[in-house]
This record gives sequence, structure tokens and C-alpha cells, in this order.
Amino acid sequence: MCGIVGYIGDKKASEILLKGLSYLEYRGYDSSGVALMTRNKIEIFKAPGKLNNLREVLSNQQNICNRSTVGIGHIRWATHGLPTELNAHPHTCNCGSLVVVHNGIIENYKELKNELLKYGCEFKSQTDSEVAAHLIAHEFQKTKDLLAAMTSAVKKIQGAYAFCAMHKTLPDRIVVARKNAPLIIGVGEGENFIASDIPAIIEYTKKAIYLNDNQIAEVKKNSVKIFDTDGNLLENKIEMLPFEPVALSKMGYKHYMLKEIHEQSDVARNVLSGKLKDPKSPVVLEDVKLSTNDLKNINRIQIIACGTSLHAGLVGKYILEKFAKIPTDIEASSEYIYRDTIADKNTLVIGISQSGETADTITAIKQVREKGSHVLIITNRPDSTMARLADSLLPVNAGIEVSVAATKSYTAQLLSLYLLTLYMTQIIDEKSVNDKEIISLKQEMLELPNKIETITNDTTSIKAVAKKYSGFKDFIFIARGINYPTSLEGALKLKEISYINATGYSAGELKHGPIAMLDETMPVLAILNKGAVYDKVMSNCEEAKARQAKLIGVSNYIDRKHKDLFDDILLIPNISDTLSPALNIVVLQLLAYYIAEYLGKDVDQPRNLAKSVTVE
Ligand code: F6R
Repeated sequence: MCGIVGYIGDKKASEILLKGLSYLEYRGYDSSGVALMTRNKIEIFKAPGKLNNLREVLSNQQNICNRSTVGIGHIRWATHGLPTELNAHPHTCNCGSLVVVHNGIIENYKELKNELLKYGCEFKSQTDSEVAAHLIAHEFQKTKDLLAAMTSAVKKIQGAYAFCAMHKTLPDRIVVARKNAPLIIGVGEGENFIASDIPAIIEYTKKAIYLNDNQIAEVKKNSVKIFDTDGNLLENKIEMLPFEPVALSKMGYKHYMLKEIHEQSDVARNVLSGKLKDPKSPVVLEDVKLSTNDLKNINRIQIIACGTSLHAGLVGKYILEKFAKIPTDIEASSEYIYRDTIADKNTLVIGISQSGETADTITAIKQVREKGSHVLIITNRPDSTMARLADSLLPVNAGIEVSVAATKSYTAQLLSLYLLTLYMTQIIDEKSVNDKEIISLKQEMLELPNKIETITNDTTSIKAVAKKYSGFKDFIFIARGINYPTSLEGALKLKEISYINATGYSAGELKHGPIAMLDETMPVLAILNKGAVYDKVMSNCEEAKARQAKLIGVSNYIDRKHKDLFDDILLIPNISDTLSPALNIVVLQLLAYYIAEYLGKDVDQPRNLAKSVTVE
């Protein structure tokens, strides 16, 4: 949440900051601001709302923009205080000599504020972050050394932070610090960059230093020095960034979300590539460090995740229990961390996260590591905090996902869970490689990319259904068995980008309460895969029809009963129950997309959301 960019070099800082912030807009976008260093003066510009507003403000400041080659910028997702200009970052001390931008939450900001008020600090905003500006400035008065001031300040701050600070008397440096909020330093030739996420700087450099928790860095145009909180100089570890700049283009699509939905066939090919060669070969997962012995000793699995990743994990539970035969629990990380959970060295904990930075999931992982459990992380960001905490890593290789609503990362997570399940099963029971059902599942997995393409290549009927139903205010999604998570994910997609009230239910639960809401104003979307629960879901659809609900079916089966029962039916290619969640979801993503499009919503940046939820 929130995005930070910093630049120090010889180029126009304002351009690099604005561009960088535009690539971080998916992290938060309710206000933004920059601080530009000019000859011993710091100029601050802020604007509420989208980044374009700040762009406009800066377009009237060409004189300053032309002169400044050092600056810091921020794009905000409000936690404390409304998204107003006053609450936008950068924040300053009383005299404006010191500026700071902050990602994270300062938990003890009230105590610190009370203390700072005694020294005459005047607070202008309602944010926790402003406390940092006053605190660092207060420490600066003692030594006139920004690095020392930051070091003393962070020792007093509780919570999560990525800070970036400048002082007008030291125009040759930016000082940064990190704890529980990502921050990287992009290393260039005669210039350096700072960012809370790679997209902001990938256009300029592929070399970066990942700052670790409790590290502070002094960034100048020709040097980067990293210190611990005791002031010891640490070694710079420069790594290569894993993305290409081209990943950040819409490639002719109207929205990133549509592009990312269409990319899913290639993403599926990428996920499988090198891991599943043919239906009769074992699955190869090089980064999974579980030995045969470890796996044989594992007596339970716990999956922890949030949002869309949680829904992928729910599918994981079905397949892990079905094939690996290990009892599997799944829970939202935000709940998991506040329970007396039972986990030990015989528990395999699987954390799933697109970003690898979700605060609740990180906390949960830290908790279970202390209990001695093996932590396996399935993430789209092998460079993330979670990946660094993992005992085993399963990168999903979906490529950078820009749209706030997760689509291709979900499909990649699902396929990774299928691969992991097959991998574990083949270790637990070597003979399973010859099992007919497993061979047939692998065959289907290899065919999946083409089946996804069949859906994305012709979206005419999905568009028509989207148009027809875009006026409804409420929706219910139903399914049973392994597609129950698909109903949750389909409903989540619809509500987050169109703001239509959509809820997913297991079809069997409909008559235990939700049926009370059914009438002609409440369409029901049913996922009907021909398999074990098909007839049961059909019966539940009959019950909905009897209450005059409009019915939409998503099915892989042509059934003459559909015509009388459903108002609309969306057909998908034939697929087994077991793998169907990976195909059904593509239809639901497209449906949500086109409904939101008809309604004219801001598809890629829905209100109130952020791509990476780095606060608990
Ligand atoms: C929904 C969505 C969110 C995320 C959730 C977890 O489209 O994107 O629900 O899935 O915030 O994020 P990650 O997967 O990054 O841990």
C-alpha cells in the first residue's frame, strides 16, 4: 500500500518521480506528492485524487522541475486521515527543512506526537507519518547528520515503515530506512533510485539492493552505504531485478485487467514449463526443499492466504486431500494470527500470495516459523519478503500483475497448487505416477492453455450476458465441491471492480438462509461442471428458479434441460471436475470485467483497494 520513489542523479527528478509513481498507482491512488531539492531549498507539491492531478500541478512548475535532480515522491492509500492534500506526503517539520515520505503504519504515533508537541512541533495533518518528519528533524538538531537522525528516530518508532528523507542542508543525499515494508535501491551509473516496488525503476536499471528490516541507507548519486541500527556499515548485495520494462504496457488492451485475463493461456504454459513434461513423467519442482523423509513425516497441512490467494488455497485443500491424502486446513491469515493455532515440525505451512508482501500473511509465516514448521511460499514475486522467509519457494511465474484485481496470478497459483499436489503425491506414493486419474489430470493440465484460449478468443456471449445483467444491484454465485471456491472468487471479482453486491455460496447452503433473498431482482450464477455434483447443483438451480431468480449457468456440458431452466448459459470446453476451477474462473473474470466496463468503472484501480496490502 502506498508507493515510494526517490531519485538522485543528473536527470530531471520530477519526470522520474512522476513516471515511477505512475507505475506504483496500483498500490494506492488517493493522493500523491513530491519533494524536489533545489539549491538548498526543498519544494513540495501535492494533490489529492489521482496522479494526474499532481502531474497538472507540476506542469505549472517547470522552472523548479527543470532545476531539480534530487527528489522523493509518494502515492498514498489512506490509513490515518482522509485522502486530502494536507494528509498527502511528503510531510515536513515545522520549518520545512526536512521532508519525509512513509509507507506503513507508526503504531506509537500518538505517544510520539505527545512527546514532540512538548518541543513545539506543530502538526498540520491527521496522519501518523507526519510524526516521523518531526521526530527525524528533532534528532537532526542534535547532530546535523541525517543518517544519525534517521537511526535514532527509527529506534523510537514502533510499527512498519519504509522511510525516505531529505534535508535541505544536505542536498547530495537521501536517507532511507526499512522495517516490515519493502524498499529497494536501484543502482545506476552516476545516479541511484529508490522505490517501494520494482516497476517504479525497472525502466532505468536492472541492478538493485534489497534493503532488509532494520537497515538504514545513505544514498548519494555515486554511492550507497547501508548500516544497521547500531551504525555498523554493511556489505552491499546487488541483485538483478527479475522483470522486463515491457511487462508494464497494456499492449493495446483497454485495461491491464483485460490484458492479464488474456495472458492466462501463456501464463499457464509458463507455470507448467520445465515442471510437467508429459503425462507419464513425474513433476519437477526444483525449489521445493522437502525431502522424502520430511514429506512422509508431515501429518497436516495449513494453508494461509488472503483474498484471491485464499480462494486458490481453498482449491488446494480439495486436491491435496484428494491426492496427497494429508489433512489440510485453510484460513485467512488475518484470522490465523490471532488464534492459538496448532502447528509443529510435522506441519507443512503453505503461504500463498501474489505480492509476497501481504502483512497478515507475513505475520502468520513468522509465527509458524517459530514453531518449527516448514514454510512453503507460493508467490508471484520471488523477490518479496515472503519469498525471503520461505524454507521452500514455488514461484508462479505469472509476470508482473498491474491491475488491482488479481486474475492471471490466480490461475498461476491454482496450477502451482496442482503441481505441488502431484509432486507431493509422487513422493509419498511412488506408484502414483502410474495412476490413471493422475495421468489423465496431467494430460488435462497440459491441454489447459489451449482451452483457456478457446474462451478468451471469443468473448461474444460473455459480453452479451454482461450487458444484459449490468443493471442488477445484487448477484449470487453458487457451486459445489471443488468449484465452491470458484463461486467465491467470481463473486469477489464482480464486487471489487463493479461494486455490485455479489456473494458466493456453496449451492447446498442456499436453502439455509440466502434463498430468502431470491426474487427477480437477484440473479443467480451457477457453476455446473458435469461431474459428481452436477445433478445436485441443477436441483439447487431449480429451487432458485422457483423463486423467480434469473439464472445464468456456466457449464462444460450441453444438456437439453438447460434451455428451460436457464435464462443464459455460457459454455466452456470440456474439462474434468478436478481441473475445472482453472477454466471456469476465466469466464467469471471476463464477466466481471465486461459488467464493470459497461458500468464505466475504473477497472484497473477500483475505489478503496490497493494491490499490495502491507498493513494488518
Ligand atoms: C483481489 C485481490 C486481493 C488479494 C489479497 C491478497 O482481486 O487481489 O484480494 O488477493 O489482497 O494479496 P496477495 O495475494 O498479494 O497476498
